[in-house]
Amino acid sequence: MVVCVFGRMAGVIALGFGLVICGNAMAGDAVKGQKLFKRCKACHYVDREKHKTGPHLVAVIGRAAGSLDDYKYSKAMKASGLVWDEKTLAAYLKAPKKFVKGTKMAFAGLKKDMDIADIIAYLKAAN
Ligand code: HEC
Repeated sequence: MVVCVFGRMAGVIALGFGLVICGNAMAGDAVKGQKLFKRCKACHYVDREKHKTGPHLVAVIGRAAGSLDDYKYSKAMKASGLVWDEKTLAAYLKAPKKFVKGTKMAFAGLKKDMDIADIIAYLKAAN
């Protein structure tokens, strides 16, 4: 039996199946994130440097927003001056159109902070 702290839910008891990432209070679960990434897959590859409707997300952590030369970003994304890290990704994925006004990413946003943390953990693990 493994006792972990998931986000703000302290003291969750997990029965030790699958990969459970413990320790850091806001650490996401990359395995859950992989499943949640289904919602991004229609528009993004994370495992090959090829674009779909959206730019590929290979090594997106640490990348400057709108910086891939062969992808046609919105002006808003190019001019955002953002660098993708846990904080900026979390804000963008929560409410894309609010955080980057004028982005052409047609995605409503993820409501749950824990889902966002899980997807970010997956993006990190995938790179
Ligand atoms: C309907 C298609 C669509 C879906 C679904 C979608 N995206 Fe996007 N995404 C885009 C487009 C288009 C852009 C380019 C935005 C721009 O230029 O304003 C983008 C941009 C991004 C960027 C910025 C990349 C860069 O190079 O600066 C990130 C990060 C991102 N998306 C992550 C995600 C994640 C994670 C999900 C799932 C939770 C997701 N997206 C779902 C279409 C989508």
